[in-house]
Amino acid sequence: MNERCGCVFTIGALINRCAVDRRERTMAGYRTMMALLLTAGSVFQLSESSVTCKNEEGNEVDWYILYKLPLGYGAGVSYLYMDNSTNGWIKSKTNIGGSPGTLANTLKPLFDFYDTKTEGFGYILYNDQPPRGENASTSYGHSKGVVMLDNKTGVWLSHSTPKFPKYRSKKFWPANGKTNGQTFLCVTYSSDQFEEIGLQLKYIHPYSFDYAISEFFPDALRDVAYQIGFPRKSPWFRQTNLNSTGGNIFSSFAKYTHFNDDLYSGLIVENMTESLYVRSWGKSGRSSLLPSECNPGTPHHVYNVKQVKLLKRIWNDTNDHSKWCVAPNSGWTCIADLNRHESQKNRGGGAVCIRNTAVANAFNTIINKAEPCPPSAKREL
Ligand SMILES: *[C@@H]1O[C@H](CO)[C@@H](O)[C@H](O)[C@H]1NC(C)=O
Ligand SMILES: *[C@@H]1O[C@H](CO)[C@@H](O)[C@H](O)[C@H]1NC(C)=O
Ligand SMILES: *[C@@H]1O[C@H](CO)[C@@H](O)[C@H](O)[C@H]1NC(C)=O
Ligand SMILES: *[C@@H]1O[C@H](CO)[C@@H](O)[C@H](O)[C@H]1NC(C)=O
Ligand SMILES: *[C@@H]1O[C@H](CO)[C@@H](O)[C@H](O)[C@H]1NC(C)=O
Ligand SMILES: *[C@@H]1O[C@H](CO)[C@@H](O)[C@H](O)[C@H]1NC(C)=O
Repeated sequence: MNERCGCVFTIGALINRCAVDRRERTMAGYRTMMALLLTAGSVFQLSESSVTCKNEEGNEVDWYILYKLPLGYGAGVSYLYMDNSTNGWIKSKTNIGGSPGTLANTLKPLFDFYDTKTEGFGYILYNDQPPRGENASTSYGHSKGVVMLDNKTGVWLSHSTPKFPKYRSKKFWPANGKTNGQTFLCVTYSSDQFEEIGLQLKYIHPYSFDYAISEFFPDALRDVAYQIGFPRKSPWFRQTNLNSTGGNIFSSFAKYTHFNDDLYSGLIVENMTESLYVRSWGKSGRSSLLPSECNPGTPHHVYNVKQVKLLKRIWNDTNDHSKWCVAPNSGWTCIADLNRHESQKNRGGGAVCIRNTAVANAFNTIINKAEPCPPSAKREL
């Protein structure tokens, strides 16, 4: 029998068969074997790479919120970070598009899939301003996000950044992304929540610009990838509670194009026990900005946040493209898809909300100026 060290796969066998009289070949065989083991190890790691939200250090977290600062704070790539352990905002050490970094670490299973077509992994990328060229038709939702999952867990990352992430590129941050402020919410869910997430997305009706469907996609999520199966009867909205892997409850609001009303004053505030402070994009092209809404007939008002204070500086809503709202006393905070624009009443979109005092305080304290009720609204409350 031919004694070939290069074919030996265990250290024990290697030493027994080669150690005494084949010292040089043993070392060569040992190196070959270690290379094989390392390769096998990294393949193993890839398929085990968990599909969860990850922080700047690459550790798994249940959820996080990012607030990217506008250009003017440095090069427009700095961001604030918050998760369940930070008790409010912390300034990140990395850049928003940097690798490693919070987004790069979170998107790693997607980047791995580009290389290895990881078994069981699937994703949907959606954006009304997709990364390659033209805008999606306005019949699609005004919404942007990333869904990734395997057979155990997945993430739903909703955000406000046009052309993010760049098409099938590990250099995922688009050049246009530095100008304005942007928000991101990442939540880790077990895979059994994605049927419900798919149902919410059917109302939002996003423009899916890239996807890979795995056998673990529930039907609703497949429909979302294929852009089929829209809501057919009123009510043209849907609210549901989603359970994160860490046991937090997230309230998801979604409206379909036929809803024909503002997301905040027409839907979210109706579900709240107090007035809502809303931050959204303060430029609306040919459409008009909706004023703060203070109808005497409605118990709670909706105030536009005209200025926020981030890192000791004031930011108007004309260079902050983020979308969020807070109900400060009851502790609800939502990260949303839509602006308070007349033209977005008939767009699909939604918001994902968390009830957490530290989060609500963090958003409430950055409000520097809210638009008062319009003089026409006679305040009787
Ligand atoms: C896409 O929409 C954005 C925002 O409304 C606008 O600034 C941009 O000019 C549009 N691009 C095209 C190619 O229509
Ligand atoms: C998920 O898939 C992996 C690899 O295909 C398998 O080893 C594992 O048992 C599966 N887990 C569950 C919860 O189905
Ligand atoms: C979340 O958990 C609650 C009970 O804690 C349950 O009633 C609800 O159905 C769960 N939601 C989903 C989408 O699984
Ligand atoms: C979140 O933080 C709170 C307070 O710091 C803690 O009590 C709770 O266990 C944390 N929850 C999770 C899911 O980490
Ligand atoms: C909205 O209403 C639903 C159903 O009554 C409730 O479960 C959910 O927690 C509410 N969400 C918010 C954000 O208040
Ligand atoms: C914000 O807007 C106000 C009023 O429109 C303007 O006076 C101010 O200069 C702006 N501030 C910044 C930092 O752009």
